[in-house]
Amino acid sequence: MTGSTKRSSNSQKTSNASQSDNRRGGLYGSIITGTGAALPKKILTNADLERMVDTSDEWITTRTGIRQRHIAAESETLSKYGVAAGRQALEAARLDPADVSLIICATVTPDRPIPATACTIQHQLGCTKAGAFDMAAGCSGFIYALAVADQFVRSGACEHVLVVGGELLSKYLDWEDRSTCIIFADGAGAVILSRRSGQGGLLSFKLHADGALSDFIHVPAGGTALPASAETVRNRMHYIRMKGNETFKLAVRSIENVSREVLEMSGLTASDINLMIPHQANRRIIDAVGSRLGIPPERVYVNLDRVGNTSAASIPIALDEAVSRDLIHRGDRLLLAAFGAGLTWAGAVIEW
Ligand code: COA
Repeated sequence: MTGSTKRSSNSQKTSNASQSDNRRGGLYGSIITGTGAALPKKILTNADLERMVDTSDEWITTRTGIRQRHIAAESETLSKYGVAAGRQALEAARLDPADVSLIICATVTPDRPIPATACTIQHQLGCTKAGAFDMAAGCSGFIYALAVADQFVRSGACEHVLVVGGELLSKYLDWEDRSTCIIFADGAGAVILSRRSGQGGLLSFKLHADGALSDFIHVPAGGTALPASAETVRNRMHYIRMKGNETFKLAVRSIENVSREVLEMSGLTASDINLMIPHQANRRIIDAVGSRLGIPPERVYVNLDRVGNTSAASIPIALDEAVSRDLIHRGDRLLLAAFGAGLTWAGAVIEW
């Protein structure tokens, strides 16, 4: 699935930007007007993990770049963090909850299988005029949700959409599996996507999937394929399983390719990008992608050393941090790119 608003340095073409928008099938453009993020208080360090599984700070740091991660308390829910991040995004956008007409929560770790966590967020934020639903696209979930929100804004159906990317992956981790429990973490990020007047905003996106490789990252039981039973619990089938090494190789290639696609769709090159915000999966993946694209490390935002891999939450948490640190200014071009369970991969270019 694709969407682009082609940019050009040619002034004639630039003045026709709305024509490009129309070719993409919408009346309006969309732009991020507020961001927010929320992380659990509890921090789990690599030293803590050394006491839990057969691993070492040295192995985790050199293989992943992660030094610590935030882990929710047992009683806490995803919606708690989605609400906190969403409230910040609303405040940053200077909106009342009633101004929001749609809430999309990208997650694979909802509060419960039924109903959607987005509905709990809707209720707790007091977004009384908003529809709400969840979306599952693994670690690419935030970009997928942003692209869906863009369609509602672009068509004129919504003026403001709250997009939340959130996960409590700790609840789906096998704390005896050293290949997964050292990577994944908890948190939520959020943005408000609003109707745009003028230039800028979401310039392009591209969504990909390959369900043939669904077993690379999956939870075997708990769905209709294998409903929960005493046996599935006994066999630890409700935890995330990952083919880490195979996933690693595909992730590098896919993130690079989708980044090139969305850059081209925007009429931009890597040198036009002020800040790349990649999914925070593994420092080696991020470094390899940056170097293949020719984006120097100082223009690639990294927080996984402190935050770990929070799946659908990772890009909006990193984006909110970059905004809070005043690293993003009006007119800056951002490249977002992610890869995850599905398999899915996705990219987007934003002019701030
Ligand atoms: N501590 C110590 N050793 C570990 C370990 C840990 N936490 N986890 C795995 N190992 C061991 C393995 O058992 C294996 O040992 P062996 O050679 O004796 O069999 C060895 O380290 C190498 O394992 P491998 O899986 O090949 O390591 P890797 O370099 O691929 O790193 C990941 C593992 C998971 C860190 C890495 O593959 C990765 O980040 N994958 C991508 C994750 C991702 O992007 N997911 C999708 C988006 S969420």
